[in-house]
Amino acid sequence: MNGFLKTKAVLVTGGAGFIGSHTVVELLQENETVVVIDNLSNAASDANNLPPAISRIKSIVTSSQAKNLHFIKGGYGDKSMLDKVFKKYNIQAVIHFGGFKAVGESKQLPLMYYRNNVAETLNLIKAMNEHNVKNMIFSSSATVYSEGPPEDLPLVEESPLGNCTCPYASTKLFIENILRDVTMSDDGWKVMALRYFNPVGAHKSGKIGEDPKGIPNNLMPYIAQVAVGRRKHLNVFGNDYPTIDGTGVRDYVHVVDVAKGHTAALHALDAMKSGFRAYNLGSGRGTSVLEMVQIFSEVSGVEIKTQIKERRPGDVAIFYCDPARAWNELGWKTEKTVHDMCADLWTFQQNNPNGYVSAEYNGKT
Ligand code: WQD
Repeated sequence: MNGFLKTKAVLVTGGAGFIGSHTVVELLQENETVVVIDNLSNAASDANNLPPAISRIKSIVTSSQAKNLHFIKGGYGDKSMLDKVFKKYNIQAVIHFGGFKAVGESKQLPLMYYRNNVAETLNLIKAMNEHNVKNMIFSSSATVYSEGPPEDLPLVEESPLGNCTCPYASTKLFIENILRDVTMSDDGWKVMALRYFNPVGAHKSGKIGEDPKGIPNNLMPYIAQVAVGRRKHLNVFGNDYPTIDGTGVRDYVHVVDVAKGHTAALHALDAMKSGFRAYNLGSGRGTSVLEMVQIFSEVSGVEIKTQIKERRPGDVAIFYCDPARAWNELGWKTEKTVHDMCADLWTFQQNNPNGYVSAEYNGKT
């Protein structure tokens, strides 16, 4: 990499991932210059030697906006690569999506999660410090909240943290605490931790969306794969919870709304006092599994077969937030409905019945 690009830029780690790619689209459409680093641990590269998500992002935005997207293959913890990036681009802030995120896998491979998610983030913070880039928007998670009894709902940012149910969630809380401590040690730092509730859906173009490797752990990709014929039926994990219909209730939020939460946070950085601040990114409303199945069936015109199974260990009955702080301080709230989430997810799944990100990509969609 030679020459220094004076234009102010945003560094996005993990920008080829589900929420990262949708955020990169929003940033480009706001005429930001975006530098994405991604080690492609979750993706192959396509004919342009780019991860498919990056090529598809370029096809969604205008050609002039696509010119503002720079992709570098590498790990966000690779100090020498980061030094080159900070020397080449005028990075004003880092949006840090990078990290492994499979709840079940984290229980089997905790050390891989702690090394990749936590230790590599320490290298990222070190490189930022050395290059005097001290603005970070961190991709955190509602899983950092300890699961208290129902009277503690809705969850606010001051709700109790900890008692994480898996190493994945623990890594998110560790990184939040590390970032909080960094801001306490140096008042040049500003950090916003965005705690996502249940991001679902896809870009309305149907070109990018959630495309998990193997059998989906999460509800919505699984329902979509049943609808498109890749799975026989949905296993409903428990219908004996104290909820409207006995099935689990969650706070689903459209991935494009989540992406806009990041651009809202970026705009708010300048006005932010130095320090650490967490924000819930959720709708503030709960939807049950069977309600979601019903809505998806209506939207897709496909009957979603279900089988009631035992509760999944670690699941709670009801989990949703109060997103008022994000509205009061970032001017952000959800705009899209559960119907929009299902409609956009259905478009994406129909366009990509076999997925598009996984290593088998090779041009299949
Ligand atoms: C939702 C509801 C299940 C699958 C996850 C993780 C984590 C986080 C947010 C980032 C629950 C039920 C699910 C299925 C089912 N992401 N379900 N059959 O567990 O709320 O949280 O999402 O931080 O990935 O914490 O999401 O989609 O797995 O489950 O009945 O095949 O759907 O019991 O009630 P969850 P989920």
